[in-house]
Order: sequence, then C-alpha cells, then structure tokens
Amino acid sequence: MAKKPRILVVDDEHTMRDFLTASMADRYQVVTAADGVAAMAILREKPVDLVLSDVQMPGGDGLTLLADIQSQLKSPPLVVMMTAFGTIKEAVEATKRGAIDYLTKPFGLDQLDHTLKRAFELRELRSENRTLRTSLRAQREHHGLLGSSRAMIALREKIEMIADSRGTVLLQGESGTGKEVAARAIHNAGSRRDGPFIRLNCAAIPESLLEGELFGHERGAFTGAVQARPGKFELADGGSLLLDEISEMPLSMQAKLLRVIQEREIMRLGARTSVQCDVRIIATTNREMKASIRAGEFREDLFYRLNVIPLRLAPLRERKDDIPLLANHFVRAFCAENGRSPMSITEKAMRSLTSHEWPGNVRQLQNVIERAVILTSGDLLDCEQLDLGDELDGRGDPSMLPGDLTIREMEKELILRKLERTGGNRTRAATELGISVRTLRNKLRQYQEHGESIGV
Ligand SMILES: Nc1ncnc2c1ncn2[C@@H]1O[C@H](COP(=O)(O)OP(=O)(O)OP(=O)(O)O)[C@@H](O)[C@H]1O
Ligand SMILES: [Mg+2]
Repeated sequence: MAKKPRILVVDDEHTMRDFLTASMADRYQVVTAADGVAAMAILREKPVDLVLSDVQMPGGDGLTLLADIQSQLKSPPLVVMMTAFGTIKEAVEATKRGAIDYLTKPFGLDQLDHTLKRAFELRELRSENRTLRTSLRAQREHHGLLGSSRAMIALREKIEMIADSRGTVLLQGESGTGKEVAARAIHNAGSRRDGPFIRLNCAAIPESLLEGELFGHERGAFTGAVQARPGKFELADGGSLLLDEISEMPLSMQAKLLRVIQEREIMRLGARTSVQCDVRIIATTNREMKASIRAGEFREDLFYRLNVIPLRLAPLRERKDDIPLLANHFVRAFCAENGRSPMSITEKAMRSLTSHEWPGNVRQLQNVIERAVILTSGDLLDCEQLDLGDELDGRGDPSMLPGDLTIREMEKELILRKLERTGGNRTRAATELGISVRTLRNKLRQYQEHGESIGV
C-alpha cells in the first residue's frame, strides 16, 4: 500500500488540533503545531504533503505562514486554509497567493475529506502538467531530436551551426537512428522553417515514375498526363527537400539530379524552359556510400555534391546513455496518446533496455515501449512487460527451416526471419541476404498483395 500522506495541522486551539488529528489519523499521518513559527520549524525538519492551517492565530497568522512556506521551502507543500466566518476575505486572499483551497469553519468530516482529496488530485495534475511541459519544452528546444549522449549533443550543435546555410547535407546512419528527425530538425532550426519541408523516398518509387515525381511534368508530357503537375523540387521552393534513401536512386536519375544540384534549376518533363528553385537538399542513406561507389552503384561526383555537410547518426548501441531518456520520453508519449495515466519503467527493466543491442535502433525501442504501454494494465513496466527476452539474443543465423517447404515459402521464411532479427531494418536484411533493397521490397509487396501476413 502507498505511504500515508503527511499532514500538518496548524491551529492555536488544541480542541481543533485534537479533533482533526483524531478524524484523519486512519488515512493520514498527522502532525500539529500551535502557530506559524512552530509550523515552520516542523516543516524545515521533515517535509509534509499538505498544511491545513487556521487563518487567524496569535503569533503569526496563516497568510504569513503561507508566505514563509513559499519563500523558504524548496518544495513547498500544498496549503489549505481554515477560516471562521469573519476571516473569509483573508482565506480568499490566501488562495490568490497560492493556497490550494480553504475550508469554512465549522465544517463536517465529509467536507474535509472532499477538500483534501481534491487538493491531492490537483497536485497530481499539476505535476503531470509539469512533466508534460518539460518534455514539450525539450522537444521544442531540440526540434524533437532527443538525447543527452555526447554524440547527440554534438549533433545538435552542428545542426544549429549549419541550419541557416543552404549547403547540401548528407545524413548517414543505420535504419531507425533518427535521420528523418534530424532532417526535420535542420529544417526547423534554420531560416527556412516557414518554407515547405518536402520528402521523397527514392527507394519506394518505381524508377519510371521517379523523374516525374522529382521534376514534375507539363500537360501532355506523356500518355495520361492530362494535367500539369509540379515536382517535389518545385514544391520545396523556399524550403527543404529530403531525399530519403538516396543510395537507392537509379544511376540514370543520379545523372539528372547532379545537373539540378549544379544548376539550381529544374525542367518539368515536356517543358521547354527551366525554372529556378531555391531548395536546400538533405539526403539520407543507411548504406555505406563508399561501398556503393566502389560497386558502381552510385556516382562518385554526385556523392561529393551531396556530401558538402556530412552528418552521422550513431547507432543506438553506441550511445547507450540516450536510452533511459528516450525510453522515458516514449513511455510518456504513448501513455498520453493512449489516454493512460503515467507509467514508469522499473530499474531492472531500464538496465535491460540499456544493455540491449537494438539492431533496429530508436525505432525498435519506440516500438517495444509502445507495445508494452498498450499491453500493460498497471503503472509499472518491468522486464516481463517490455518482453525483451527473445529479442535480446535475436542475432545469429536462422535456425533450421522445416523440410517440407517450397522454394518460395522457404525464401519468404528466410526474409521474414532476417527482418525480425534486424528489427525491421530492410537495408540490413537485404545486405545480409545478398539481395538489393528493391528486390526485398518487391517481395514483401508480393506477399502483401497475396494477402499473406508478413508480421513486420
Ligand atoms: N533522437 C530522437 N529523439 C526522439 N525520437 C527519435 C529520435 N531518433 C529517432 N526517433 C524516433 O524513432 C523513429 C525512427 O526515426 P527516423 O524515421 O528518423 O529514423 P531513420 O533513420 O530515418 O530510419 P530509416 O532509415 O529506417 O528511414 C521515429 O519514430 C522517430 O520519431
Ligand atoms: Mg528515414
């Protein structure tokens, strides 16, 4: 059972002190004082949760006590005033100065109960509010890029430095490390924040449509082009364009992109003239670009054009001191999102979160917490709820596959297991399986189109 809240009763009449002590002793720990000076002495010695004080007392009235409490104590308790008919004005004044409520004498036990209960509820709300405000502030201050590790602090500093420039940024980092969050932070931290932020996922769009997506087209540029349409470049004019998974861009498009970056102007498909675009490009990749260049899959000249400002997002396992902060942030966020009262992570569970390897990085941590919040009914998240057990040793080779599968089923099984082991990191899964991300994605799409559950 929770500890009984400690209440200090301050009244010069001992009958009142005795009466209140007797009527509250079963639910509260009650201490008493006969005047403000004695009250302050008690408060300095050991904090209480709530002070129930008379307004009028010889030797320091209630308002003076309230002022002392607020100016001299580090974490002031709640204050409820008790007032006789003649001193209601003072009691009202006290609530203006920070007392949470007042009771008019004579009052019944029900009334007392109700007032105390409401006072404690209000305190709860206030502290929830405060936590929420603190985390909102952090989010605003850091543009959503949370983390207290050295790597994260350095990254945020760099973002502040480069935010106002137009220099192209290449964000490198494993899947789920926060590249998109960082890209938005760059946009929001700089002078372009009021301009558009446009995102294009280079890996998700079929090669044949990519050019139109980027540059737009005029009416009649191709069959079906019944209307002119601006491309992402034009839409991003005055703002930022996020080119996600740039390493997956086909070579033919890479040549065209290179030209646009050099000339800062684009031509819609089927257009005769080009238009100027003031766009800051932020590109991301979770592949080792040098390897792609060596393999002939990425143009070296484009790489240098993009890599004007290189930023790296470290994998979560290399900045484990970010884990508690991120985990707590996600718990708060998902509690709020699901209308749940605040939950907290036990120390043991936090240790296990911190020692986990997180192949899927921040995204995986976020998913684990979301699942735990939704599936837990109490207010504590322990190891059991976080269910890291089988994910903890989730690396290594797939165990034996059953022998009676078709090649296709076997392939699917392999792909799904690999995805599970990489925390849903498609690039890494593809690399480890020896196929391209595009192939992996196509296969997943096929599974989905056949109505098969892929569970990822
Ligand atoms: N530093 C951070 N603070 C708060 N949330 C974060 C942070 N980093 C990542 N996240 C959250 O983790 C999830 C994954 O982040 P994000 O989409 O930016 O990763 P990514 O590197 O772009 O991954 P991918 O390569 O798979 O696209 C998002 O929901 C994001 O909000
Ligand atoms: Mg991303």
